[in-house]
Amino acid sequence: MESISTEQLSPGAVRVRVAYSGLNYKDALAITGRGAIMRSYPRVAGIDLSGVIESSEDPAWRPGERVLATGAGLGEWLDGGLAEYARLPAEALVPLPAGLTLLEAMALGTAGFTAALALRRMLENHQDPAQGPIAVSGASGGVGGIALLLLKQAGFQTAAITGKPEAAPQLQELGADEVIDRGQLDLGAKPLEKAIWGGAVDNLGGEVLTYLTRTVKPWGNIACIGLAQSATLATTVMPLILRGVSLLGIHSVQVPRPWRLALWEQLAGPWRPQRLEQRIVRAVIGLEQVPQAARELVAGQARGRYVVRLAGDL
Ligand SMILES: NC(=O)c1ccc[n+]([C@@H]2O[C@H](COP(=O)([O-])OP(=O)(O)OC[C@H]3O[C@@H](n4cnc5c(N)ncnc54)[C@H](OP(=O)(O)O)[C@@H]3O)[C@@H](O)[C@H]2O)c1
Repeated sequence: MESISTEQLSPGAVRVRVAYSGLNYKDALAITGRGAIMRSYPRVAGIDLSGVIESSEDPAWRPGERVLATGAGLGEWLDGGLAEYARLPAEALVPLPAGLTLLEAMALGTAGFTAALALRRMLENHQDPAQGPIAVSGASGGVGGIALLLLKQAGFQTAAITGKPEAAPQLQELGADEVIDRGQLDLGAKPLEKAIWGGAVDNLGGEVLTYLTRTVKPWGNIACIGLAQSATLATTVMPLILRGVSLLGIHSVQVPRPWRLALWEQLAGPWRPQRLEQRIVRAVIGLEQVPQAARELVAGQARGRYVVRLAGDL
């Protein structure tokens, strides 16, 4: 950990006192050096934050306003949320929606925003509960867990695909109707296997994503979010042209601002997960615990979300 002055932070019109930052898989890749996340060094890590405006050279923001930021370059080409202060461009910030505390905003954080973006894209592409259950991979992690919550609340049956079958009680508590041990999954080999899933939310990539393309029913959607296992996808055009399956790209960093604002309002309102903090937050930790927590995440040991306390409740 190092002390730097706010003048050393990447340029931005708005100075934010950081309350909390979520710890995401991408942060873990950056912090452990396992992934090329930061575009240049030195860089303050942390792809999301919640906090209070301290000063602003942009008339869009006033001191004292509560805000959050996810993606938008934080922790990549802008200094991020794992520090007491952040200096950000005005357009990177979102007003904290009514109905969410600063802690709840980061309990959701990038993971919640990404899961909501996936659900939005699936619904826009006509995903319907009557098509059948939605398979969620990487279910014990941040995105997977919140995806289970949101899908369940939206009326879908869900199946959690996990490497931690012992976490079944927690996954059921999040809304999983079925828990599938990833190690026992019959991945199949043919371009099309028996169609069982109405749709899917995938956090892993690689062979699990390939399996999902083989087993999603006609007109189902697969939201492609992550690469926790692999960046590869070996499939054929068959699911697309013989079943009308759609592979939806989910990208949470550079999102059109109107979508960003609307999704946060939705997450704080009609889609707000009940008992959000209890069900999603594994622990609220201090900065000194971040390296160890990051090592856990890259080792696939995530269970829910770590939230990092900077100033805490402001
Ligand atoms: N597209 C976007 O904009 C976007 C936004 C956010 C996140 N993501 C990506 O989505 C994925 C999930 O992110 P997250 O923040 O939810 O991560 P996380 O909290 O660390 O959870 C990842 C989960 O993936 C599973 N997993 C399987 N193999 C793994 C491995 N070799 N290493 C690590 N995890 C493994 C584990 O669940 P089980 O044991 O239950 O299988 C783990 O709990 C990541 O790949 C992340 O980069 C993408």
